[in-house]
Amino acid sequence: MVQAEAISDAELDALVAKLDLESKVLLLSGASVFHTRAEPQIGLRSMVVSDGPAGVRGERWDEYDVSLNLPSPTAMAATWDEELIARLGGLLAVEARRKGVDVLLAPTINLQRSPVAGRHFEYFSEDPLLTARIGAAYIEGVQAGGVAATAKHYVANDSEDERLTLEARIDERTLREVYLAPFEAAVAQGVLLVMSAYNAVNGPTMSESPLLAEPLKGEWGFDGVVVSDWGAVRSTAESARVEQDLAMSGPNEYWAGPLIEAVRAGAVPEAAVDAKLRRILRLAARVGALAGYEPTLGTKAAAETTLGQAPDVETARPLLREAVAAAAVLLRNEDSFLPLDPAALRRVAVVGPNAATARLQGGGSAGVFPVSAVTPLDGIRRALAGDAEVVHAVGAHIDSRPTPLDLEHARNPRTGVAGVLARYLDADGTELLAEHRLSGRILEPHAAHGRDAIVGAASVEISARLLAEPGGQCHLAVVGVGRVVLDVDGQTLLDEVILPDSIDPATLHLTPPFRHVLVTVPDSGELNLVASRALDAGTGLAAALCADSPRAQDEAELAAAVELARSADVAIVVVGTTDETESEGFDRSDLRLPGRQDELVAAVAAANPRTVVVVNSGGPVELPWRGDVPAVLLSWFPGQEGGDGLADVLFGAAEPGGRLPTTWAAQIDDLPVRSTTPVDGVLEYSEGLHIGYRAWLKGSTTPAFWFGHGLGYTTWEYEEVSAPAQAAVGGFEVVVRVRNSGARAGREVVQVYLARAESGLDRPVRWLAGYAVVSAEPGARAEARVHIAEGVLRHWSVERHGWDVEPGAFTVQVGRSAADLPLKTVVEIGK
Ligand code: BGC
Repeated sequence: MVQAEAISDAELDALVAKLDLESKVLLLSGASVFHTRAEPQIGLRSMVVSDGPAGVRGERWDEYDVSLNLPSPTAMAATWDEELIARLGGLLAVEARRKGVDVLLAPTINLQRSPVAGRHFEYFSEDPLLTARIGAAYIEGVQAGGVAATAKHYVANDSEDERLTLEARIDERTLREVYLAPFEAAVAQGVLLVMSAYNAVNGPTMSESPLLAEPLKGEWGFDGVVVSDWGAVRSTAESARVEQDLAMSGPNEYWAGPLIEAVRAGAVPEAAVDAKLRRILRLAARVGALAGYEPTLGTKAAAETTLGQAPDVETARPLLREAVAAAAVLLRNEDSFLPLDPAALRRVAVVGPNAATARLQGGGSAGVFPVSAVTPLDGIRRALAGDAEVVHAVGAHIDSRPTPLDLEHARNPRTGVAGVLARYLDADGTELLAEHRLSGRILEPHAAHGRDAIVGAASVEISARLLAEPGGQCHLAVVGVGRVVLDVDGQTLLDEVILPDSIDPATLHLTPPFRHVLVTVPDSGELNLVASRALDAGTGLAAALCADSPRAQDEAELAAAVELARSADVAIVVVGTTDETESEGFDRSDLRLPGRQDELVAAVAAANPRTVVVVNSGGPVELPWRGDVPAVLLSWFPGQEGGDGLADVLFGAAEPGGRLPTTWAAQIDDLPVRSTTPVDGVLEYSEGLHIGYRAWLKGSTTPAFWFGHGLGYTTWEYEEVSAPAQAAVGGFEVVVRVRNSGARAGREVVQVYLARAESGLDRPVRWLAGYAVVSAEPGARAEARVHIAEGVLRHWSVERHGWDVEPGAFTVQVGRSAADLPLKTVVEIGK
């Protein structure tokens, strides 16, 4: 492929010079939520940006706009496999092109400072090196496919409580070595955008921060665009004077009109406007949004993808399924309990709230409508078809918000077809548009399917015939902000003005307040429901009509699951969290599995000692029963092919390839770094360099499972490590010989840590310095070559405000987790 010519500085200057101040300033903030502005005078078209990271949502957040759903970032990082991540990035690029997306708002490369962080599932790891490497591979894959990636959120957006306003206080060395490190790697990888975070760091908010100039644009040489987080630009001169380039979403009230005035008044130099615009135009040229310039990003995928086509599920499925198994972490496997042999099974009980409901992703802006979903139960049934009978019970309920009406329980009252009827009404109640929908949840009620906006709509109405248990009781709920009304069989049961309970746009959009009523279902087993929500400006978007599906009493559910488990050869309990538990917009208050899941696992394990627990969550949860079951397997939020990938692992078609990217605590009170709650608006990162396993190594408690831990289906002997006795500051190579001592071919993640017993500096007890993946047949040896780069030898000198290497002896420790390191050697680093 011939590489297109990059646009030159002179060409950028010439384009900028064609525009007057008003036109230039307008281009610095978005045209709409996910569009930049066009400027026909210079051949600039609008660029489309879209959220990720576990799929490309596109411009619309609607059930009709489906996406391929990849494993969530914690799962991606658990693979420790950059080649696989780059392939997943390539898939995202194809998805983006098919949806006409120029810029993907991913990856999220903040760090897992505390497991209670709401977006923990969306970050890769607690370790800066692993985050940096997985993040760079993701960016490589996306951009090689012709789509710009965005490293977000720069910087220290590591938790959600008060995220719009909190000030993170971080010492200079920690900022450099821990939180900025993944961004430095992203820039080195050539990422085209960096998103400035909502929060402040050491004073100014990130869209007004000097950190945008140094190190980002100066020292690191970032020549792309700094886009703000959505609504994060909340000043005119303060943000326009610094290196903040593009304010999203748009139009931004501080930057549109007021910025023109600020330039005229001399509060912002016009040169600052020009500099921002040059960067936006350079991005446009790179992605092919500027007439006369061929895109400079890889264009192979672009050429093969047609705008508007359906997701290519068949092509994507094997890769997504492979990724599920590659990410799955086997935490415990007594006496090689897993894999199970299908031929030896006659009856398998699959129980738990996450068995028959697909919990594929965390909550917040990362969410997509998956094109399809394989539940754990589906996957296991498919794998055991012809071998064993599979029986199921839910065992426990965990949804705390009402569940939207679905195809099973709702009928469109006009057509009788499974689903609901949505009507958009003007202020007089006249119907402007009606459409059939598949669920009672509408995230963008201002715009129907295939339409950008419904002009004049004053309210949205969702109606359905609900099919329920005759004589049973049902909770009916209406979700949304503003005036909501619910009529049931012609009677108004709710009519209330609901006020917002958060100013966070994501919370308002995704988890707005709701009201519910309890009704008794008539003997017909049908209820006619009509819910409506006023669409007043500024009251948030979502509207939903929900009815909790008819359910048995909790006691009875639990008992039924236990009985099934007792009657089976093996019980597989699928427990976990949901996108309600782990979400953008708020942090978790505890790490317990929601509902009565712990009780369920304990009761099932007591009834049948042959119990496997599958943990389906994005981040750590407490597993108090972990010593009482023979096998515990993490499936993360696995994306749409979760069920088949899980079955591959359970029945041995694939090895569980994952290793923990995060240390898992036995209980929340043991956490060495826990609180994400700011005090008077300030969140002190007082633990400094010591987060994750580094904090655990320093502390007095032992976690349940260490960073790096994960069993495969074979065993490994670590035989020998060799490294030069002396090396220069530039780095060296560690060679590790391992032997597959088990009975099955396998893959091992060989991890290398450095330690510095004698040091004049505060240092982690040890820190990850590199890793490599090897594979070997049973009995065979393999050699892992791990490059130790200068980046993990150096430290940030606060005296010199620069990088330094402390000469002396570094201990090289090698093994399978941060706490299981059978080999070591010493390397003397010279001056
Ligand atoms: C999130 C970003 C996201 C943006 C656009 C914000 O609330 O923090 O990660 O890209 O919304 O949806």
